[in-house]
Amino acid sequence: MRPIQAPFPATRLRRTRQNAAVRALVRQSTLSPGDLIWPLFVRDGEGVEEPVPSMPGVVRRSVDRVVEAVREAAALGIPAICLFPYTGSDKRTADCAEAWNPDNLSNRATRAIKDAVPDIVVMTDVALDPYSDTGHDGFVVDGEIVNDETVEALVKQALAQAEAGVDIIGPSDMMDGRISAIRTALEGAGHQNVMLMSYAAKYASAFYGPFRDAVGASGALKGDKKTYQMDPANSDEALRCVARDLSEGADMVMVKPGMPYLDICRRVKDSFGTPTFAYQVSGEYAMIMAAAQAGWIDGDRAMMESLMAFRRAGCDGILTYFAPQAARALG
Ligand code: PBG
Repeated sequence: MRPIQAPFPATRLRRTRQNAAVRALVRQSTLSPGDLIWPLFVRDGEGVEEPVPSMPGVVRRSVDRVVEAVREAAALGIPAICLFPYTGSDKRTADCAEAWNPDNLSNRATRAIKDAVPDIVVMTDVALDPYSDTGHDGFVVDGEIVNDETVEALVKQALAQAEAGVDIIGPSDMMDGRISAIRTALEGAGHQNVMLMSYAAKYASAFYGPFRDAVGASGALKGDKKTYQMDPANSDEALRCVARDLSEGADMVMVKPGMPYLDICRRVKDSFGTPTFAYQVSGEYAMIMAAAQAGWIDGDRAMMESLMAFRRAGCDGILTYFAPQAARALG
């Protein structure tokens, strides 16, 4: 659809840009705190907030401090948070059993949050990388990341998270068949209201670097994730992934990373009209923060512009480490 327009000077496109009021009137996209999901890193201990050096302004929090952060999020109008546990090498094992421990860090944090701030939406991540000694999202057998055995473990992990009370489970592992396996298990266990936000189009990206520092996976990771995460050169494959995950019972889908993949966000939204999210990942956050700290860009404006870009590209919401700053700026 292309609007009909008269030739210049009957049409002057600058007329609708002439002042703030007119610009507000014709603005197409909106951004509000209600569009944001705030990822939080959880660690052991009490009263601890430990900076993540590659993500200025981001900290790993002990469970009590996570609860405080969630209260702050709720007060700012942020509807959802997402938990990522930092696991030391002592809890990383070949069988990844900590992943389905009902009392692991993620599940303890979920219970504490649900006790203190019951109305906030709690999302968790399903994948084995916080718990594996290889740093991979699945089991490694003879150098191969094995699919079906991994899916069985992911189901156990997801059920433990549902038992702890999460609202949204986000499988980020990129194994085939995990959405249907998890959905079937959730229905069977009486968790029919637990939502699945599939990391459907997740690319093998260099932009996850700082996150892997934050969760203690950088040192552990052997090799790369290219046999399960997508090739950044591909676009049609993202639509196949989304179609597959929706057909298996995903309620919402995610594109990840965000900014370098806005074309994928748009294609997904236009093709499926389904709730669509982008993850503005750690490396995107780190780039904006680093340039802002160097005085090379206006950090607040770059933050807001980057978030609005997701809305313009068709995303319903954004997972972003900027969530509290952005919510404050939005007022
Ligand atoms: C792990 C996972 C990753 C992220 C979210 N879940 C990293 C990875 O796949 O290596 C990245 C988030 C970020 O970079 O902010 N399954």
